[in-house]
Amino acid sequence: MSKFGLIKFLKRIRSLLPTFALLIFFGVGILFFILPYYEDALLNTKKELSHELVNSAISLLENYQSRVEIGELTLEEAQSRAKGRIRALRYGVGNNDYFWINDLDYIMLVHPHRPDLEDTNVQYLQDINGVFLIQEFVNLAQTQGSGYVPYHWQRVDDPSLISPKISYVRLYEPWGWVIGTGLYLDDVFAEIHSIRQKTIGIFLALLSGLSAWAAFMYISKERSDARLLTAENLLESSEAQLNSLFNSSFSFIGLLDSKGHLLNSNQTSLNFVGKQLADVRGKLFWDTDWWTGDPQTQAQIKAGIQQCGTGQLVRFESYNYDQYQGKIIVDCSIKPVFGRDGQVNYMIVEGRDIQDRYNAEQKNKHQLTQLDILHQIDNAINLRKSVEEIALLCFTQLKKIYSLDTLALWRYESGDQKLFNMVVHGSLKTQPTPMICLGESFVGMVALERRVMTAQDAKRLSNNHLDFIEQEEFLDFVGFPLISHGEIQGVMEVFNRRADSLDEEMRNYLYVVAGQLAIAFDNATLVNNLQRSNLELRNAYDRTLEGWAKALELRDKETEDHSERVTELTIKLARSMGVEEDKIVHLRRGAILHDIGKMGIPDEILLKKGQLTEDEWIVMRDHPLFAFNLLSPIPYLQPALDIPYCHHEWWNGSGYPRGLKGEQIPFAARIFAVIDVWDALTHDRPYRSAWPEAKVLNYIASLNGLQFDPYVVECFFDVLDTPYPPPSYNEE
Ligand code: C2E
Ligand code: SIN
Ligand code: SIN
Ligand code: FE
Ligand code: FE
Repeated sequence: MSKFGLIKFLKRIRSLLPTFALLIFFGVGILFFILPYYEDALLNTKKELSHELVNSAISLLENYQSRVEIGELTLEEAQSRAKGRIRALRYGVGNNDYFWINDLDYIMLVHPHRPDLEDTNVQYLQDINGVFLIQEFVNLAQTQGSGYVPYHWQRVDDPSLISPKISYVRLYEPWGWVIGTGLYLDDVFAEIHSIRQKTIGIFLALLSGLSAWAAFMYISKERSDARLLTAENLLESSEAQLNSLFNSSFSFIGLLDSKGHLLNSNQTSLNFVGKQLADVRGKLFWDTDWWTGDPQTQAQIKAGIQQCGTGQLVRFESYNYDQYQGKIIVDCSIKPVFGRDGQVNYMIVEGRDIQDRYNAEQKNKHQLTQLDILHQIDNAINLRKSVEEIALLCFTQLKKIYSLDTLALWRYESGDQKLFNMVVHGSLKTQPTPMICLGESFVGMVALERRVMTAQDAKRLSNNHLDFIEQEEFLDFVGFPLISHGEIQGVMEVFNRRADSLDEEMRNYLYVVAGQLAIAFDNATLVNNLQRSNLELRNAYDRTLEGWAKALELRDKETEDHSERVTELTIKLARSMGVEEDKIVHLRRGAILHDIGKMGIPDEILLKKGQLTEDEWIVMRDHPLFAFNLLSPIPYLQPALDIPYCHHEWWNGSGYPRGLKGEQIPFAARIFAVIDVWDALTHDRPYRSAWPEAKVLNYIASLNGLQFDPYVVECFFDVLDTPYPPPSYNEE
């Protein structure tokens, strides 16, 4: 057993050590103190015994002597009987102990074991050490009367063995006898030895019993230690397992005390906010970093913890914020942990990141809503609802799933290559332009290129075409061409005042909605065409229009028949320029109604004799827009709107109401502008008399390329059959 092993052994039997110590203490005590003392005592007892026995023998002699004195016996008889009695006396182990008698003259009178010595002089008898033992007896008897003498003497049981002996001798004076008896020390020693043996035996038995007990303890302790060690290992490893579970769980786990202070938080939670445990430990849980800056969530967490404090399990959806204030949705549960007293000792907070699940759910919901909207549009189309109604449906439904500021719908007229604003839903700060030419502005570009366009594409447009978008502060917008049966039917536009708010997913879906709207348009066009082919109806309308024109002229007497004349001449010029007959009908209506907008001009301006002031001009320049607003709700007049709306635009862009330039100005309006000025100047006006024809021709020629399309001016002179350029005119 190595030193370490011994120490380990002693440790194991630690509880037995006092017993061992006590045992050894007693063992040593018995062997070295009690037994020697006992040996002494035993020896003394034995010596005392021989002393007593000798006294008894003396009283025997005294008895005989008294019988001599009373005359019952003679001295001789008495001494003989006494010798016989003494010789017969035996005691001790195996009756080995005896009495002897000698007289003061060294004559051996009685010796039960050495009859050969009786009646002989034994004065010079020596033991093996040369002791004259008989002389010692006589000496002691004569000097002290009695006493002990040590010497060696043969053993009774085995006379060949000489053993140490101690004898007591006493003088019986009346007779001069010395009586002695001795004890063999060997016998005492044997007795002591046997006691010693027994004691050692008992001691060894006790010791071995105790050792066996110790061994048993050691082994069982070893076993239980092994079990304990295994249990400790198990505990340690299960603790490690728990720890790794705690820390590696994808959930956020926190342990709180009953007041809501954070005691521990797992690694996942800490990593999420980029903190150490020391940063958050001890804080009230709702004041920790997972939701700082969101008082609403903090309040929710606090309420949850308080509810849990009453012993309830609480579960709710909440938010967690990471170190960059990124927010995720978590399924948060707070579980009470009860102590023995039934009170809530701890709370375990667990938060599971359900952002992905939430996203998936949202996506599902979103897709369902998307489908539902398409279905609703489909139903509306089947029910032959108007495009306007369907557009409103689209807008209100789309707002449910997308953030959308404005939706605009334009109808395309292929005859005039124009887009007409049908509906605008959502917020607008300005008035939308009622009509846009193909290719003009963002919506015109979408229709011209027949593809989905975004704010990115709009960067190609010149600035004045983006006025509307800029004024409205639209930062993100998309235009979808509405194409059905290969024909462009119109354009759907969506606008947002937030940048990058119309993502690809949304654009893809709106593209599908636009497809539905195109079908709605197609259906509506079919209906319109049916209406248009109703000639009777059309004539009735035309007569109404002429009535309107007349009404205007009745107001302004001096423009009497102006509408009729300009209409005739416009058609003549248009035909000469090769305009097809199916377009002439719209030209006619446009010309008749060209100044219908003047119905909105008050008399004091319209009929003013002199020059218009700047303020009056502002009102006067509104007449084309007024005409547009008046006529555009009437579907069949829409293709005729160019002239009323655009006849005051100038070729160089300085006209009104929109400042269109060159070929941006509809063709019909370019033709009509020349005719209108020609007829106005050749007739009286409230503000001036008619000009001479030559002056008017010169005037028109002078505005060639400024106010008028040069090609139109050229054709106009052809139609008048006048050489171009005209000879210069001098106003005398
Ligand atoms: P309107 O009288 O039918 O004139 C049509 C267009 O013919 C005018 O457009 C202008 O381009 C030309 N024009 C007519 N009269 C004159 C003229 O005396 N001198 C010149 N240089 N051009 C003439 P504009 O100028 O845009 O005017 C549109 C309308 O505004 C006119 O229709 C008329 O109703 C009104 N207006 C124009 N100037 C005056 C004015 O001085 N006094 C009054 N009371 N009304 C005026
Ligand atoms: C944490 O473990 O500390 C956050 C738990 C939660 O989000 O509820
Ligand atoms: C407008 O110019 O009024 C319309 C522009 C657009 O919607 O694209
Ligand atoms: Fe006019
Ligand atoms: Fe006119």
